[in-house]
This record gives sequence, structure tokens and C-alpha cells, in this order.
Amino acid sequence: MNQFVTLEQIDRAVEAVRSRTSHRPRIGIVLGSGLNSLADSVQKADAIPFGDLPDWPRSTVHGHAGKLVVGELEGQSVMVMQGRVHFYEGYSISQVTLPTRVMARMGLEILIVTNAAGSVNPDFAPGDVMLITDHLNLMGMTGANPLMGPNIEELGPRFPDMSQAYDLQLMAQARKTAAESGITMREGVYCGLSGPSFEGPADLRFLRLAGTDAVGMSTVPEVIVARHGGMRVLGFSGISNKANLDGSTVTTHEEVIEAGKVITPKIEKIIRGVLRAL
Ligand code: HPA
Repeated sequence: MNQFVTLEQIDRAVEAVRSRTSHRPRIGIVLGSGLNSLADSVQKADAIPFGDLPDWPRSTVHGHAGKLVVGELEGQSVMVMQGRVHFYEGYSISQVTLPTRVMARMGLEILIVTNAAGSVNPDFAPGDVMLITDHLNLMGMTGANPLMGPNIEELGPRFPDMSQAYDLQLMAQARKTAAESGITMREGVYCGLSGPSFEGPADLRFLRLAGTDAVGMSTVPEVIVARHGGMRVLGFSGISNKANLDGSTVTTHEEVIEAGKVITPKIEKIIRGVLRAL
């Protein structure tokens, strides 16, 4: 599992992307489970299947398409990851974050991440959108930090600060856009776990005590790598299910994908508004 991605591998992937598109994107967008459709709205799109890119990790999960879509959205030059890979798929945490490394190396300034998550906050309901204001890096605390291994000095420092991982100005813009669009946007702390089993009631009581509002199996490693590389980050969770705090409900992947259909139009509206304001 200790397979560290090297600068040479990152640069090879950067070259492969650059050779397949003339766009020079400024903003990266990662679309989570069931939230794929925004990629279809990208104009002047160059679609690059992940399989065409060297060392690029490929998703094995239903609901995650596998391509990079580079083009324009709301007047901005964007690079959209339609589908991501997760640590639980068996890739090293360093391989999982290769796409984010590539974005940072290509000089992208902003990363917008989305995910499907279970609500641990009892006030949240399936279909809600949550602005991620901070995260709980439980994967990293248990040894799976994406910056482990030799530090790539060309990308960032050995000990990057995470005191404000999510960008205050971008969050303010997201709030403004949500309010203007009449979308009730929740806010809270996202906890990233490795999965793939969903949490049990004791796990969830622990997470709630620790200040978690929503829980999922992605995002945090990408955000750490993006911040290491100096990118500004904005993140959204689509609440797909109520996490099973008292053991009375069962969580399924199908429910996560179904909820995405309600959540996608809301997240799309907010992201479009933020892009227009940039
Ligand atoms: N737990 C973890 N990951 C998830 C969940 C959940 O309840 N829902 C969607 N992704």
C-alpha cells in the first residue's frame, strides 16, 4: 500500500493531459457519487478517458464514470473529474490523490470538491446540500495521509498548514449564490473515513461526539493535497442518507445514487453561481 507517486509520474500525467486539450484550466471540479451530470454541461469539451492517462487511477465503483472533461463552464476554464477513486478500492492514498497533484502541478488555482455523504447531524435530511466548512481527517489520523512519503518540494512544504482548509471567500460566495437561488444550504464538518463498509451505530455516536455533521469515504485526501499545492478549496456534501445512529435503518449504495438526483441540480446551481462570480 506504500506506493508513493513521484514527481516524474505526475509530470507524465500532466503532459498527457496537455497533449489532449488546448484548454488551460484554472478551476478543478471533482464530482462525487451520483453527482456526475455537471460534466455534461461543459462547453467546448475535450473528454479524456482516465484509461488514456498514465498511472491515472480508475474507478471500479458503479455510479462513478471515469473521464476528465476539460472545457468551459460559466465563462471559466475548468477541468472536471467525472468520477474519482477511493482509498477502499485498493489504491494507495498517494495514488488516490494523483489527479489532484496533477491539477496543482498544472497551475489550477481552485479545487471544487463534491461528495455523497451520510448525515450525522440529526437536523440534516437526505437531499440536503452541505457546505463543508472544515473536515475531520480520520483517515490521516490512522496513518493514511496522502502526503506521507518523500515530500515533493516542487509542489509544497513538508508540513502544510490546515487551519483554514476551505476558502473563506469561496464559502461566502457559495452562501450568497445559495440564498439568491432559494436553496437552503446546510453547513458543517465532513469526516472522511476509508470505508467501504458503512458505519455502525457506535462508530456514528463516536463521530457525532467528535463534531462530525456528515460522513463519507473521500474528499479529505484531495483537499489536503490541493492545499499542499497552494490551491483554494471549496467543498460540498450531498446528503444521501441519514447515518444509522440508533441502528434502526439500513444504508445502501442505491440510496446514495438515488439521492444524487435530487441533490445534483442544487449543487450545480451553487457551483455555477460561484464560477460566474470568479
Ligand atoms: N457513510 C459513509 N459514506 C457515505 C454515506 C454514509 O452514510 N453515505 C454516502 N457516503
